[in-house]
Amino acid sequence: MRYPKRHHQPDELDYNFERYLLAKQAIDDAALNRSVLDELIAHLPYTSRATPLQVLELGSGIGTMVERMMGWELLKFADYTAVDADEELTRRAHNRLKLWSLDCGFKTNENSPRMLDIQSMEGRVSITFECADAYQYLERHYDKRQWDLGMAHAFMDLVDPVEMIYY
Ligand SMILES: C[S@@+](CC[C@H](N)C(=O)[O-])C[C@H]1O[C@@H](n2cnc3c(N)ncnc32)[C@H](O)[C@@H]1O
Repeated sequence: MRYPKRHHQPDELDYNFERYLLAKQAIDDAALNRSVLDELIAHLPYTSRATPLQVLELGSGIGTMVERMMGWELLKFADYTAVDADEELTRRAHNRLKLWSLDCGFKTNENSPRMLDIQSMEGRVSITFECADAYQYLERHYDKRQWDLGMAHAFMDLVDPVEMIYY
């Protein structure tokens, strides 16, 4: 991993589910399938400021996948929509990623309360944090938006995959 891990202050760990997600971050880093990762890298299109990758993550939790993907230099120019049903986790994801960006020496910009722009050495990742149920979000955006990449880390086992694919 190229960038440092976000340091956590004790008072950041007072929420149990967040604590659980933080604890499993390193385990997931080690467990993620490298062949799948290589396949993904091979299929990612060229991106630029004018043609950012459109990414949709469902069940984004505290935002570890953004850290991971930027750390692996998978995200250079991207519009990243992070959807989670939990309002507190959505807020924590936003705060954590802002602090993490500063730790990494990236510039950040917040054009609206739900958005965080991260300017890294490689490019620019613009994150929109959506607190919403994934089914309702997909239903609302059906036929309105297209994404190049869908992420659902530790999420598909929580929903009915057949129903989710239907959306
Ligand atoms: C096991 S956690 C995984 C979080 C993150 N992807 C990770 O790996 O650290 C599952 C996440 O899905 C969210 N979630 C569960 N059901 C959801 C739904 N119907 N719509 C959106 N988010 C949901 C939870 O709030 C939680 O943050």
